[in-house]
Amino acid sequence: MRVVVAGVVIAGSVLMAMGLPSVGAQEDAATKPEFYTTKVQPILETNCYKCHAGMFHRGGLNLKTRDAMLQGGHHGAAVVPGDAGKSLLVKVIRHEGPANDPMDMPPHKPKLSDADIATVEQWVKAGAVMPADAAKP
Ligand code: HEC
Repeated sequence: MRVVVAGVVIAGSVLMAMGLPSVGAQEDAATKPEFYTTKVQPILETNCYKCHAGMFHRGGLNLKTRDAMLQGGHHGAAVVPGDAGKSLLVKVIRHEGPANDPMDMPPHKPKLSDADIATVEQWVKAGAVMPADAAKP
């Protein structure tokens, strides 16, 4: 009897140790502004800025600042903090938006890697947090 009880207790603590804390830690990381500057912004910079920053706001969309992302482009908000499913930005990089208007992003290029898409999604889900001065010149 004792052995069974001990076994249950140990199994419980192993599950706690493996599962819950690590998930929590990942979510915490994505709520830090550094998550945006070190992980998300480089993805946008490489794949999106040439058409959605600086001189160009294709589709009416500027991806440089949080306000501009919330405001979005011709189809409304690009990012809905906390809700990746409602965020047009996430849909178009997943190639799950309407096929033509707006089209999949980046246009006429291979889809972003699964890892990059997951990073952007994780960031949106955690509230799309970024430092106020994230916009680079
Ligand atoms: C080569 C230029 C180019 C690149 C690179 C590019 N886009 Fe676009 N994007 C466009 C054009 C042009 C439109 C508007 C055309 C349309 O509505 O189909 C657009 C529209 C959008 C829209 C819809 C805006 C709206 O409200 O209509 C989103 C969201 C978007 N892009 C996100 C991205 C993201 C995220 C990336 C990087 C992964 C990216 N784009 C890369 C050219 C680009």
